[in-house]
Parts: sequence; structure tokens; C-alpha cells
Amino acid sequence: MNHDDIDLTGYKVMVVDDTPANMDILRGILKDQGYRIFAAPSGELALEIAPKTLPDIILLDIMMPGIDGLETCRRLKKMPKTSHIPIIFVTAKTEMQDQLDGFAAGGVDYIHKPIHREEVLVRVHTHLEIVALFKAQDASFRAQEKLSEELTKKNKAIIDTQQQLVQSEKMASLGTLTSGVAHEINNPNNFVHVSAQNLQVDLTRLNKFLIALAGDNADEAVLDSFDRQFAPLHKHIEMITEGSTRIRDIVQDLRVFTQLDAGKLKDINVCDCIHSTVNLVRTNYLKVVEFVIDLPPELVLQCYPAQLNQVFMNLIVNACDAIRQRQSHQASTQPEVARGTVTIACKALGNSIEITIKDDGYGMTEQTKNKLFEPFYTTKDVGEGSGLGLSISYGIVQKHQGQLTVESKLGKGSVFTLTLPSI
Ligand SMILES: Nc1ncnc2c1ncn2[C@@H]1O[C@H](COP(=O)(O)OP(=O)(O)OP(=O)(O)O)[C@@H](O)[C@H]1O
Ligand SMILES: [Mg+2]
Repeated sequence: MNHDDIDLTGYKVMVVDDTPANMDILRGILKDQGYRIFAAPSGELALEIAPKTLPDIILLDIMMPGIDGLETCRRLKKMPKTSHIPIIFVTAKTEMQDQLDGFAAGGVDYIHKPIHREEVLVRVHTHLEIVALFKAQDASFRAQEKLSEELTKKNKAIIDTQQQLVQSEKMASLGTLTSGVAHEINNPNNFVHVSAQNLQVDLTRLNKFLIALAGDNADEAVLDSFDRQFAPLHKHIEMITEGSTRIRDIVQDLRVFTQLDAGKLKDINVCDCIHSTVNLVRTNYLKVVEFVIDLPPELVLQCYPAQLNQVFMNLIVNACDAIRQRQSHQASTQPEVARGTVTIACKALGNSIEITIKDDGYGMTEQTKNKLFEPFYTTKDVGEGSGLGLSISYGIVQKHQGQLTVESKLGKGSVFTLTLPSI
């Protein structure tokens, strides 16, 4: 910046002098330059006025009754509001020691009496230019700070959008998978189910037919052998029916889990969602985890069901994984490791619903607790966890204006508490 370009018009100059003649001369010289002048006829008044008017520079007479210039200067330098203001002493003193005293008190320069117009202008102008440069630097620093704040905000918005994209991609692929599963498995499974039931009926009929064929006088041993031959066949058909019923239930759970209209707000019974999610997860952890479910029959909530199911799924799978982790640690020192327990409870609390998912798994270190909701943070082996489950869940809970909090003790387990507004 070229200093000649600096416009100092309107800069505030305070003149402190007890002699009216001097005050008038200084005022006259400075006013012509377009500065705003504040006059204080004593040190006491200067100390009162300066913090209120915040001048850009102060011209301070040294010899004054009451608080003299040097003491006034010291006090101004001690006050936080005025400590930065440059002070030029106006004095008849020319001794070097006097000048040094002035610098020691906090002054930046001297104007000598008798007052010369040119000297006043050059010194005031020079120091005001420095003030102006500081101001410009400060403004650019603040602008930079603002810019960096905005950048941080934009960065966060990009990460949020990325998370949402990952989430919607996950949901989309899960939706496709589900409808595929529903179609591809449900139909053939229905054939199996219906055929097994028909087979059961046919077998009973065949049994009766053979008994009739054997006649009324049939040998007891022959009839017994019929029963022995037919019993395992009936057993096999029962197993086929049970298996296909389980397949049908899994497909049904998958359907509830994804709900094809994922983007719409819907009134749903949260407890149904939790049950179906637990049923989906349970089979993967049969030997590892026991579930204790404490839910009322119905708690209706307006929400995005598919997304909320994803939160339940992430939290329940994490709880089961933590139990498995605890067990594999214990397995190295103990011959038998007990199954873990995941306890899921849900209750209405005023205008909200509180769902807790508690596990007696491995728990978390302080570092994990701090980074838990960060995208891509995982303690699982490569390929076992992407570290997105909780960050996505957190986003979904926020979208529902809810809260997701955690308490955890290393070696003891964790409790996740999900609070969702119910109206
Ligand atoms: N119930 C829990 N007990 C102990 N640690 C947990 C629990 N839930 C989450 N964590 C820790 O938080 C980390 C992040 O969890 P998050 O669900 O975000 O990712 P992830 O489970 O590792 O991978 P994925 O993307 O497959 O869910 C986990 O790796 C684990 O260290
Ligand atoms: Mg997870």
C-alpha cells in the first residue's frame, strides 16, 4: 500500500493541554486536515474521556497541574481500552533525560514547544498512518478468519452431504437386494411350503389307503410297520415346513427393515421395527449373544422407517460385535466363555421415546469414545467394518431431531441411548 493513498480524514485526535492558547493552536492546525478533535484540559479529564471516545492518537502536554502528562500517559497505557493508542508528548523540555522519561512512560514521539505547524502535521500524520496500517492489517486478519470459518463450515457441509450420499447408496442397494430377495426367494419358498403341506396330506391319505388295503383282519405287525415307515416321513415334512416358515419370516423381516418407500415420513410402531431387526441379526450371533427385549406392545412414531431401521441395525450389530470381541479376548485365558447379553428397552418419556441398547461386550477406550461418530473410524479388522455405521446413524438421528449418546466402560460394556421426539 502506498502511504500517500491512506485517507486519514475523520481520524480521531485527542489534545490534552491545560493552556487554552496551546490548545487553540493545535486544534486549528489539526482541524484543517479533516481530523476529528477531542479536547481535554487536564490529565484527569483525558483519563475519563479517552476510554469513551477511543481516539486514534493523543497529543499530551507534559506540564499540567494535577496529574501531569507522564502519569496520565502511564495510566492510559494501563487501561485495556486505551493501552494501544499512540501518545505524542507536547513539551518545552528538550533534555535527553526528559525525553527518555517520556518514552519509558509509554509515549511514542515528541512535539516541541513552541509549536511549529509542519512538525505537528508530520508527526501526527506519520503516527496516524501507522495506526491506519495496523487497522488495515487487523481487518484483513479478521477477513481471513471469517473466510477460514466459512471454509470450515463448507467443509462440514461437504462431509455431511458425502455421508448422506453413502447412506442413500447403502439404502438403495439394500432396497434392490430386498426386492430381489423377496421376489427370488419368496416364490420358490412358497412352492416348497405348499408342496410340503400337500405332501403331508397325501402321506396321511396313503397311510389310510394302505391300512384299508390291508383289510380289517390285518396283522398288528403289518400295521405297526406302516406306522414305523410313515413316522420319519412325517418328521421330514415337518422340518421342511419349519424351514420354509423361517425363510418366509426372514424375507418378511427384510421387507420391514427396508420399507420400499424409504423417503417418506410414516407413522410406524417402533417396537415392530426393533423386533424385526433383532430377528435379522440374531441368526448371525446365535452362539454368542442372548437378547433380552423389553418393549411395550406399541409405540407409534412418525419417522423415516427404513432409515431408523438402519440405526437399530447398526447399533445392534455393534453391540453383538463388541460381545464377540470380549469373548475372543477371554478365550485366550479362560476355558469357557459365557454368552453375552444385549438388552434392548424402549419407553415413552413425555414428548419423546427413549430406546436403550446395552451390551456386556468389550467396551471402549477413551480414544474410541472420542472418535466414535467420525466417518471411517473403526477398530475392526480390514474388511470387517467400514467405520460408517455410527456416523450414518448419527446423521439419521439428527434428521429426526433426536439424540444419540453413549456410555461405555472398557471391559464392562456399553449403553447407547437413542432419544426421538414423538410429536
Ligand atoms: N457397542 C459398542 N461397544 C464397543 N465399541 C463400539 C460399540 N459400538 C461401536 N463401537 C466402536 O466404534 C467403532 C465405530 O463404529 P461404527 O459402527 O461407526 O463402525 P464399524 O462398526 O467399525 O463399521 P461398520 O461401518 O461396518 O458399522 C467400532 O469400530 C468400535 O470400535
Ligand atoms: Mg458398526
